[in-house]
Amino acid sequence: MRKKFVAGNWKMYKDKTETVQLISELIEKLNSYTPEVEIAICPPFTSIELAGELIKNSPIKLGAQNMHSEIEGAFTGEVSAKMLKSFNVEYVILGHSERRTYFKETDEFINQKIKRAIEFDLKPIFCLGETLEERENGKTFDVVENQLRLGLNGVSRLDVEKIVIAYEPVWAIGTGRTATPEQAQEVHSFLREKLSKLFDSEIASKIKILYGGSVKPENARDLFKQPDIDGGLIGGACLKADSFYQIILAAQF
Ligand code: PGA
Repeated sequence: MRKKFVAGNWKMYKDKTETVQLISELIEKLNSYTPEVEIAICPPFTSIELAGELIKNSPIKLGAQNMHSEIEGAFTGEVSAKMLKSFNVEYVILGHSERRTYFKETDEFINQKIKRAIEFDLKPIFCLGETLEERENGKTFDVVENQLRLGLNGVSRLDVEKIVIAYEPVWAIGTGRTATPEQAQEVHSFLREKLSKLFDSEIASKIKILYGGSVKPENARDLFKQPDIDGGLIGGACLKADSFYQIILAAQF
């Protein structure tokens, strides 16, 4: 049985004071009741250390939103796996569509980052998903299969277990337009089948596949009930303790 996982992607939100406020509110809610769900928050780099301190002794795990593929070097503005590890970061979001679109990240670059993250014992939350145009042209399955294959190129059977996949249809991110549970399940089961072809069915059945794209307290339960949806990567709705906590609760049943 795969344990449900809910991760919050804070994106470029929350300064220092707001970080303290959001985490304190969330911990207060979790203190009253903590469901059997794995929980992570991925704040911006500026809040990583503070968040790490605040979530100590809580069930919340720490993730980052990005990293460079090199261990160190002259890459102004970038952060490495080694640096994240030194702040006890456990997860790192890689291949998010905003990185692919605005920062022109390629499948090859994302693949290098995934391998580097694993080398430093960070668990990648590997995002993939089709655009609206690709969906409307019937290319969804080709696109996600290609992203999956290229992203995992050279990753061993042993290491792939450390990866969490996040299916995030680009047309659903931040748009309020969620994939229906059936639409998402269809892609999730396709991805799991591809994982079993690339590796084997035992590994494929262990890998968590999250759904991301306008998940809210109102639609979370129906999405998480699908057999191949193992939780969610939450953007907008994780910025308020109450809605994030409601989504966490929805992952438990
Ligand atoms: P959203 O973002 O929940 O605001 O749609 C999800 C994501 O980008 O990870």
